[in-house]
Amino acid sequence: MDKRQLVEAALAARGNAYAPYSHFQVGAALLAEDGTVYTGCNVENASYGAAICAERTALVKAVSQGARRFTALAVVGSREGQAVEETPPCGICRQVMAEFCGPSFRIFLASSPDQIVEYTLGQLLPEAFSGEALAERK
Ligand code: THU
Repeated sequence: MDKRQLVEAALAARGNAYAPYSHFQVGAALLAEDGTVYTGCNVENASYGAAICAERTALVKAVSQGARRFTALAVVGSREGQAVEETPPCGICRQVMAEFCGPSFRIFLASSPDQIVEYTLGQLLPEAFSGEALAERK
């Protein structure tokens, strides 16, 4: 699975986006260490705050199926009917990624399978808050 294929999986997942309120459709594809790809789309709600982003859909699907270790994520998004563009993950999604992925986790933002900009989670969420901060001190 190369990054181009991961972007293609994200594009396909975007086709299932449920975004009747924002009309902004997002697809994500998450690559687990064992090679499995978990896809996600955004799923909105009439109670707007109940919407979930594509990235978290993919992560929660993966974790709920027993995966915990991941290497990369591809994201594509755009208003419905428009060509996809680089769509940076929101802050909440970055934080949820940091729960399971280290700073070298790769994030591909694409405007097509041939136009991919690559970041690491460390670049997109430096100084992440983590569970280590919650540990009891002696
Ligand atoms: N959205 C995502 O799915 N991922 C992002 O990284 C940014 C935002 C969704 C949430 C909402 O359904 C719509 O895009 C507009 O914010």
